[in-house]
Amino acid sequence: MTDLIVTEDKIIERILTMELVRVTERAAVASARLRGHGNEKAADQAAVDAMRRELNRLPIDGTIVIGEGERDEAPMLFIGEKVGTTKGPKVDIAVDPLEGTTLCAKDMPGSIAVMAMAQAGTLLYAPDVYMDKIAIGPGYPKGVVDLDNTPEENIAALAKAKGCKPNEITALVMDRPRHAELISRLRAIGCSIRLITDGDVVGVIQCAEPSTGIDIYLGIGGAPEGVLAAGALRCVGGQMQGRLILDTPEKVARAATMGIKDPKKKYELNELASGDVVVAATGVTDGSLLSGVKFRGDVIETETIVYRSLTGTVRRIAGEHRELSKFHID
Ligand code: FBP
Repeated sequence: MTDLIVTEDKIIERILTMELVRVTERAAVASARLRGHGNEKAADQAAVDAMRRELNRLPIDGTIVIGEGERDEAPMLFIGEKVGTTKGPKVDIAVDPLEGTTLCAKDMPGSIAVMAMAQAGTLLYAPDVYMDKIAIGPGYPKGVVDLDNTPEENIAALAKAKGCKPNEITALVMDRPRHAELISRLRAIGCSIRLITDGDVVGVIQCAEPSTGIDIYLGIGGAPEGVLAAGALRCVGGQMQGRLILDTPEKVARAATMGIKDPKKKYELNELASGDVVVAATGVTDGSLLSGVKFRGDVIETETIVYRSLTGTVRRIAGEHRELSKFHID
C-alpha cells in the first residue's frame, strides 16, 4: 500500500518486478535446453544471450554493475554495460545468467538464472573476484557473528544465541580445497557441515529458511554471487558480511578504478545491497529452492522466486509458457 503513495520512480520499480521474472525465465529456458550436454560455455552463452535480449526490452536506464566479467573477457553483460531502452529509471543491475554452469552442464540439482535490480548506485560495484562471506538467518542479535572472528568463535556465539550446542549447528560450506582448514576446524568442534559443489547464491539464501536446517554460511565464493544473495537476504532478513579477495596488485588497481579505496574493507549487508532491491531467480535444474524448467510438449513450465527488499515480499511464480516461439525470437 505504501508503494502507491511514494515517488513515481518507486511505482515504476514496483511494476518492473514482474518484468524481472520474464528476464530470468527466458535465461533459464535457454540454458535448460542445454542441460546435461556437458558444455558449460554453451549453456552460459545461451542464458547470457536471452537475458541480454530481455533486459534491453525493459523501460530502464540500466547499468550492469555485477556481470559476466570485464568488457575484454565477456562479450555481453559485462560490468559497465548499459542495458534497457534508456527511457525509464536509472538502475543498477546485477546478473548471473546461469549460476551453477557446471550443475547445468552435468544436469545436477541447483542451477538457476538470477538477477537483481536496484536504484542506481546502491549495489556494490565490484570486479568479478572471490569474496569471503559469512551469513546467518533472521532473528539473531546484530553482530552475533563476524567475518573477523574465528570459525570457533562464530559457531559458539551462534549456538549460544540459538540456545543450542555448537555440535547442533549446521554450516554450509563450498566443497573446495581452499576450505580444507575451515572444514577441519568446524568438524573439530562437532559442527555439522553441509557441503555444496556449486551455487552459493542459494546457499546463502537458505540460511534464512529454517526448513533447510542450515544455520550459517561460511567461506569463499564469488563476489557477484555475494551481492545477489545479499539482495535476497535484505528482503527476508538475516545478516551477512563480505570481503573482496583482492590478492594481486592488478585486482587492487582494478577495484580502485571502480571506486574501491580500501581493498580489505568488510562490507555489511546494507553495503553490498543498500537500496530498494528486487531479486529474481528461476530454476534451471531442479533444486532445493526452485524446480527446474520442464518441457512438457507444447508447454514450458518455470518456477521463479522474486524478493523485494522495500516491502519484504517474496513471490513464487509458476509459469506456463505456451507461445513457444517467443522463447526463440530476437
Ligand atoms: P558459475 O556458475 O559461474 O560456475 O559459479 C558457480 C559457483 O559455484 C558460485 O555459486 C560460487 O560463488 C563460485 O562458483 C565459486 O567459485 P569456484 O568454483 O571458482 O570455487
